[in-house]
Amino acid sequence: MLVRVGECPFPLDPAPEVLEVGFGDGRFTAALARLHPQRRILGAEVSAASVARAIRRFRREGIANVVVYHGQATFALRNLVAPRSLKQVYVNFPDPWPKAKHQENRLLRREFFRRLSTRLAEGGELLLTTDHEAYWRFAQDEALASGLYTVETPPPPPHHLTTKYALKWKEQGRSFYHAVFRKKGEDPDPWPPLPRYPMPHALMSGKLPLLESFPKTVVRFEGGTAVLLEAARALPEGYYFLTHLDEEDLVQDVLLEARPSAHGLYVGLARFGAPLATPGVKAAVAWLVGFLEGQGLKVIQRSY
Ligand SMILES: C[S@@+](CC[C@H](N)C(=O)[O-])C[C@H]1O[C@@H](n2cnc3c(N)ncnc32)[C@H](O)[C@@H]1O
Repeated sequence: MLVRVGECPFPLDPAPEVLEVGFGDGRFTAALARLHPQRRILGAEVSAASVARAIRRFRREGIANVVVYHGQATFALRNLVAPRSLKQVYVNFPDPWPKAKHQENRLLRREFFRRLSTRLAEGGELLLTTDHEAYWRFAQDEALASGLYTVETPPPPPHHLTTKYALKWKEQGRSFYHAVFRKKGEDPDPWPPLPRYPMPHALMSGKLPLLESFPKTVVRFEGGTAVLLEAARALPEGYYFLTHLDEEDLVQDVLLEARPSAHGLYVGLARFGAPLATPGVKAAVAWLVGFLEGQGLKVIQRSY
């Protein structure tokens, strides 16, 4: 049920036809799944606690047509969703980012609508329900400015007002706003999935130095940063390097390793945790290989 991005195909196969962004406790997703048992639904949620709660709900309720991605909806859309495959995208009560200086954090911006158009099927639609009038207007302006959508604003369907946040705001007597953004055109940029590299590494010769210390190192690359946080000795010989990666719509903590193998010293990504070998991993491995070259080791072969 939970997508492990290091191990699944991009895009997912079979392709989801429905995406729910920020499903929270998953009650709307579960209702949708029961209403359309033949549809495959992908839910994307950044909160780990919400993901755990929702998965417990789906298991308890015997829901079998939902897959869950823990992370940014934009990452899911770009990498897990096939071009022109989505019939519906649901966004219920997105974080409104009410302050003007935080508006760039809003999800439903022009850039998002442009990218979404490449993953929506012909006539596919995004349905927004919110209590935040300013965000509702903002989203309409952004979608119209993209030139790729028609916009309608009917009253919210009653079953959209049964989410956890809908019930909370109902109690406070707030008003609700709804919009349907229907695709009428497509952005020419196909927004391809992130490139992936099979286990980026180098084979090196020479003796691993005994590191007295390892300074925290920030590696910048196009699209993000990798931070090699610390090194730890591996037994009987070698090192692990705890590395934090922050790149387009994706945050990962991975282990790099330098350890003897049958073919020489292996310096590269460790399999631990089923990581996704992204451009950021490649940049971090390239930095580590350069660091060890600086310590007198020689590259026999590069695979990155
Ligand atoms: C206000 S809550 C609404 C939750 C639920 N839809 C409801 O109506 O009860 C917004 C949710 O969106 C999630 N979220 C915010 N930004 C996100 C993003 N970029 N991708 C996926 N989830 C996101 C938050 O973690 C949170 O659970």
